[in-house]
Amino acid sequence: MSANVLVVGSANLDFIIKVGVPPRPGQTVLAKQMVRHPGGKGANQAVAAARMGADVQFVGCVGDDADGERVLRDLRAEGIDMSMVEIVANVHTGLALVSVFDSGENSITVVPGANFALRPERVRRAVASSAGTRTVLVLQAEVRPAVAEAAVAEASLVPGTRVVLNLAPYVPASAEVLAACDPLVLNQSEAADLVGYPVPDPAAARRALVDIAPSVRSVVITLGGDGAVWAQGSASGLVPAPAVSAVVDSTGAGDAFVGALAAELAHDDSLERAVEVGVRAGSFAVERFGAQSSYPMRSQLEAFSGGPVA
Ligand code: RIB
Repeated sequence: MSANVLVVGSANLDFIIKVGVPPRPGQTVLAKQMVRHPGGKGANQAVAAARMGADVQFVGCVGDDADGERVLRDLRAEGIDMSMVEIVANVHTGLALVSVFDSGENSITVVPGANFALRPERVRRAVASSAGTRTVLVLQAEVRPAVAEAAVAEASLVPGTRVVLNLAPYVPASAEVLAACDPLVLNQSEAADLVGYPVPDPAAARRALVDIAPSVRSVVITLGGDGAVWAQGSASGLVPAPAVSAVVDSTGAGDAFVGALAAELAHDDSLERAVEVGVRAGSFAVERFGAQSSYPMRSQLEAFSGGPVA
């Protein structure tokens, strides 16, 4: 059996604005710089997995415009199979307005565009066609909720499919979708939305793990500079993050984590090892500007911290 990563989700063009501090309501501020880069949580995770050496297929939609052409060209150049991507007429490609502040933090507004044209039938076909391979199916929440529901339902019919759901941005998910997650990946804000109380630190994240664990096969909460916590059955742990020289831009660091984790799970069942690789990839990404532009090749990650990646 070959080991594959099938990413179903969004592809955007990111308009990344560098600005000192977030404007207050009613305030106008001048940006220092604006650049355009391919982004979108789905596409970012596909790139992160491909750079770690996984065979990656992406399923999504772009518009019939110049942004869509660029997104397709860049993802193909990463070696990602784009044969299940639909080019939708008369709809613009998804776009994101990303503000990066001097602190390295960011705020993001997504205009879904063609991402909301992705239909459950296309996703079911893609999942069904992975039969006979060991596949990690990666989902996020920048497409319509019916897409994740269809993907999870089809995955239950295809032996050897492992579902990774990154519930970003947070939307309520059905009990059936949550029950399939192995793991469900959340950041602190998404975990807080799910459990209904703040998750400001590792202690609160461990409490959230306990509350979430009965609903899922496994769960991971990413904690930025504190690494990530995970739980699977009766096992759980904290994976600390390696030291970084500077937080330049955290945009897409969570996607670096998810993509690298999925690539690792595609050939090794150990959730703990996959979380370790994901934490390293996320830490690598925050030292660099942009989302996809900040993701490591496997050899770069090995040189960055922790030695060989299995
Ligand atoms: O997670 C970062 C991504 O969120 C950006 O690339 C942007 O497109 C939004 O989807």
